[in-house]
Amino acid sequence: MITSTDRRRRYAVAGTGSRAAMYVDAMLGEHADVAVPVAWCDTNEVRMAYYDAKVRAAGLAPVHYHPDDLSRMLSEQQVDVLIVTSPDHTHAEIVTRALAAGVDVICEKPLTIDAAGLRAIESAARESSARLILTFNYRYSPRNSALREVIAAGTIGRVVSVHFEWMLDTVHGADYFRRWHRDKRHSGGLAVHKAAHHFDLVNWWIDDVPETVHALGGLHFYGAEGAGHPGGSRSPLARDTQPGDPYGLDMAEDDKMRELFLTAEHADGYLRDRDVFAPGVSIEDTLSVLVGYRSGASMTYSLTAHSPLEGYRVNVNGTRGRAELEVVERSHTAGTGRSQTAKLLGPNGKSGQAGARLTVQKHWEVATEIPIPVGSGAHGGGDILMLRDIFRGTGDDPLRRQAGYVDGLRSAAVGVATNQSLSTGSPARIAAAGLVEVSVPSARGSHVVAEGGL
Ligand SMILES: NC(=O)c1ccc[n+]([C@@H]2O[C@H](COP(=O)([O-])OP(=O)(O)OC[C@H]3O[C@@H](n4cnc5c(N)ncnc54)[C@H](O)[C@@H]3O)[C@@H](O)[C@H]2O)c1
Repeated sequence: MITSTDRRRRYAVAGTGSRAAMYVDAMLGEHADVAVPVAWCDTNEVRMAYYDAKVRAAGLAPVHYHPDDLSRMLSEQQVDVLIVTSPDHTHAEIVTRALAAGVDVICEKPLTIDAAGLRAIESAARESSARLILTFNYRYSPRNSALREVIAAGTIGRVVSVHFEWMLDTVHGADYFRRWHRDKRHSGGLAVHKAAHHFDLVNWWIDDVPETVHALGGLHFYGAEGAGHPGGSRSPLARDTQPGDPYGLDMAEDDKMRELFLTAEHADGYLRDRDVFAPGVSIEDTLSVLVGYRSGASMTYSLTAHSPLEGYRVNVNGTRGRAELEVVERSHTAGTGRSQTAKLLGPNGKSGQAGARLTVQKHWEVATEIPIPVGSGAHGGGDILMLRDIFRGTGDDPLRRQAGYVDGLRSAAVGVATNQSLSTGSPARIAAAGLVEVSVPSARGSHVVAEGGL
């Protein structure tokens, strides 16, 4: 219930799909005293109605708007903060309109998918008094925070190189080849959509600015010609695969998927469960990227979206020693067919063994293991911490986890430059190529939204 004396900040959500749930739940739960949802903006009425049902018990009835009416929504509903959880290619338009209206923005990664979007957001952010937070939730995972602490403390000296490998398995990785993400025009490919997280982590871990990018990659496993294709003819939709097919997906078996997507198909024709081997995939499933940083440090990065296990390994070499972080999110997947896949993709969908290990080894010393605090909830408790930070502010965070628009531009720019390098076969210079020219001199200076939450 909203009263005339209500002092809570008024929030709207652009994109009431899957990711919006985390923010809506936060506004109904721990942060209900400071934030209230007043409007939804989406192309699909059914998905907005799904969220109506969620907030009804709290006496709330957010008003629905089509994206064409976004600016009207912001003024009519006196929106203080806009949460952007729409597909990646829509972010630039939505973010720039909100900033122009003086409305604070909480934007999901990636900030945008191409050079035009980078330039538009950079100029809108410079001209606006409104604040923008990029929700890089991986920064808040205790294991990633622990690595940042080790590097910031100078334990391994000045960082000179990073070797970073990210593995998405044939459940999680495969899902990008079913949805809008499979079309590069919508996601920028995994170099932007997924790796923006990883490029941000490195920018933040080593507190540096990426400048040059050289990339190789391709579509090797998924798609109509992919090596993973089991052979024979397949239905264009994952729901129609044979029982036991590990790439099948039965959305009817998962409440959220059924209500958000299956029952919403008639409203806009969006099919969330295209077969991963159906034609039309324009993104890579395998990437190798070499990034050069302003300090002279370099990174070799690899992304595999068809790995038998899920996790990542990062090795950081410094002038005094080396840090290694090894994370297993899921040691294996059991290919037991459609309902299993829906379960694995659900909010708590983890199987197999998981674990993380951070070690530091200084020259002439034995390696020591650094304890990683364990929190509860998604991403080792990271999502809870991030939500507290964005809704309430956590004051002066020595880890500088809250990310602003410059951080968003810098991580997306590495992805955009990766795509440019993939298409030209040559290295791409981030600023020289006109991809984005951020005048803020260092990552520290980009902390435009550091004080308090939204
Ligand atoms: N940080 C993370 O770990 C994480 C996880 C998942 C998703 N995300 C990000 O969240 C965003 C949404 O992803 P998702 O998985 O929820 O996608 P989704 O497909 O589940 O939902 C997207 C919603 O946006 C709506 N939409 C389409 N065009 C729109 C427009 N122009 N204006 C407003 N709404 C529009 C769709 O109808 C849909 O309801 C993406 O940018 C994604 O990268 C981040």
